[in-house]
Amino acid sequence: MMMKSLILLIVILIALIEAQPIPYPKVSDSFLGANDTGVSLFPSYLGLKIHIRCYANVTSANRKGPIALFDSGLPFFSTAWVSVIPSVLENMPAWNISKACFIDRYGYGWSDSSKYPITTQDYVMRLRGSLQVAGLTGKYVLVGWSWGSIFVQTYSLTYPKDVVGIMTVDGTDSKWGFISSNQQAVITYTDIIRGYISLNNVGSLESLARADEISHAFGWFPSALVSTGFTECSIDATQDIFLNNKFLKAAIQEYNIMVVSSVMLNFTYALKGTTLKDLPYVNLFASHDQDWTNRQTYMASLSSNSMTLPVVPIDHFVPLTNPDVIISGLAALSNKISTNPAKIWGR
Ligand SMILES: *[C@@H]1O[C@H](CO)[C@@H](O)[C@H](O)[C@H]1NC(C)=O
Ligand SMILES: *[C@@H]1O[C@H](CO)[C@@H](O)[C@H](O)[C@H]1NC(C)=O
Ligand SMILES: *[C@@H]1O[C@H](CO)[C@@H](O)[C@H](O)[C@H]1NC(C)=O
Ligand SMILES: *[C@@H]1O[C@H](CO)[C@@H](O)[C@H](O)[C@H]1NC(C)=O
Repeated sequence: MMMKSLILLIVILIALIEAQPIPYPKVSDSFLGANDTGVSLFPSYLGLKIHIRCYANVTSANRKGPIALFDSGLPFFSTAWVSVIPSVLENMPAWNISKACFIDRYGYGWSDSSKYPITTQDYVMRLRGSLQVAGLTGKYVLVGWSWGSIFVQTYSLTYPKDVVGIMTVDGTDSKWGFISSNQQAVITYTDIIRGYISLNNVGSLESLARADEISHAFGWFPSALVSTGFTECSIDATQDIFLNNKFLKAAIQEYNIMVVSSVMLNFTYALKGTTLKDLPYVNLFASHDQDWTNRQTYMASLSSNSMTLPVVPIDHFVPLTNPDVIISGLAALSNKISTNPAKIWGR
């Protein structure tokens, strides 16, 4: 009898230990570390709070400049840009950018989770409301890496008057959702993340992840990212967030809006019979294969005022592996906006 209840007690204790979630990191300790001048805003709009972290370095040169909004690849969030924040801060007066703000889409980072998947089209409408609640109004420069490129295009087409320039970084294009291997990939990725949630629920995801046995393609930050300009605190925070089911569930929701959001963007272009007109556009892309290159070239051609820049060495995880090319792209974009701003776009 004694023995049985002792065993039961031990089983309960183990279950309790395993059920302990990884503590959620404090936002202020999750980016640049000591003396971080970033400000986190949490505007609430249509029942959900979104986290937007903004950096400013204001001089007379950029006081009136547009706000740069950065949207990450999937399943990444604001911390993916830590490698570029110091250079962005240094250059924003020269670039005429008044604020640089890094967004956590719903469910990621410090943003609320949604009960249902939110398409990019819905997200764009919610983000605009959230920006107004946060007082982040004015003109925008939109920067999107990978999946964030669908956001950049959708936002621009929905609110053209607000957008003065865009940059896509090895960005997803509006034909992406029509390709059957991509449709299959989201099913595969969803299954993989479901597997991670199951492992997490029995307490065995953490050891796998800490041994760097999970690909960074799924949002895990390997410790080696310190070598590309990530702070230890940002790596720790991103790892801790990865190990929360909140993050993993957000990733599943997002994989499942990829095809529909991309296809709706395609229809938006087709239905409105429209393009990005003469919107200043810098397209950074890596030549993975001929099909990707063709689609990037096509995406760039949607604006008559675009340029492409190569990502070398070839790698899709640009903020993680090649922050310098993002800084070069931003310099090129700011030059374009000041020397050749849109004349018909947004009118
Ligand atoms: C942070 O600021 C304090 C006071 O200005 C300074 O002494 C310290 O060296 C700074 N730390 C870092 C890491 O920059
Ligand atoms: C900065 O951008 C703002 C808003 O687009 C513009 O009014 C202003 O003239 C620009 N400043 C410079 C120095 O280019
Ligand atoms: C702010 O911009 C100036 C250039 O105008 C630069 O010298 C300075 O280093 C920047 N501050 C930070 C924190 O990067
Ligand atoms: C929309 O998709 C169709 C089918 O793949 C393609 O022919 C067309 O070029 C696409 N348009 C855009 C703007 O992506």
